[in-house]
Amino acid sequence: MSGKYKYLLIVASLVALTVIAACSEEQVPTQEPVEFQPTEAVAVERPDSEPEAPPTQDVSAGDATVGQELFNSNSISACTACHSTGDNKIVGPGLLGIYERAGDRTSLDADAYIEQSLREPAAFLADDLPAIMPSFDQFSDDDVKNLIAYLKTLK
Ligand code: HEC
Repeated sequence: MSGKYKYLLIVASLVALTVIAACSEEQVPTQEPVEFQPTEAVAVERPDSEPEAPPTQDVSAGDATVGQELFNSNSISACTACHSTGDNKIVGPGLLGIYERAGDRTSLDADAYIEQSLREPAAFLADDLPAIMPSFDQFSDDDVKNLIAYLKTLK
């Protein structure tokens, strides 16, 4: 056998061995393929991201809506029996613009004057009218604040 053939034989053997080795190598899957099962996302209700609007009204101030109810309510106060919310007099003066006037009536400021008008109406007789307005001394401080808040809107 010539040197050339020997060489070819060796090369052929090596190729054959490599092929055999490659074929006999069994593929062992390390893991069973798992079907992908995505977990359904749960819809999360998010709280309104809008920041809460700051209160438009000072909490120490009265509530004009409540004050208006009090003003119009026949059973408790019946302000409407004697006062219009315009500038016409009924029995008492019309209360349009009362808050602007109130501070100039006496030495009291507007809030204090209105409170006095409710609790001690005879202490100052507006427009020289007779002292026939009943005293609303049963009103709580909140009632008074709410009424003042309402009267403020009459302008
Ligand atoms: C029986 C009628 C009568 C009733 C009811 C009455 N008032 Fe009067 N009010 C008057 C008269 C009369 C005056 C003016 C004389 C005086 O100042 O007391 C007056 C004055 C006032 C004044 C001062 C006005 C000014 O221009 O200075 C205010 C404020 C007022 N009343 C609010 C009220 C409110 C609020 C109510 C209901 C809770 C009410 N009144 C119920 C008759 C009434």
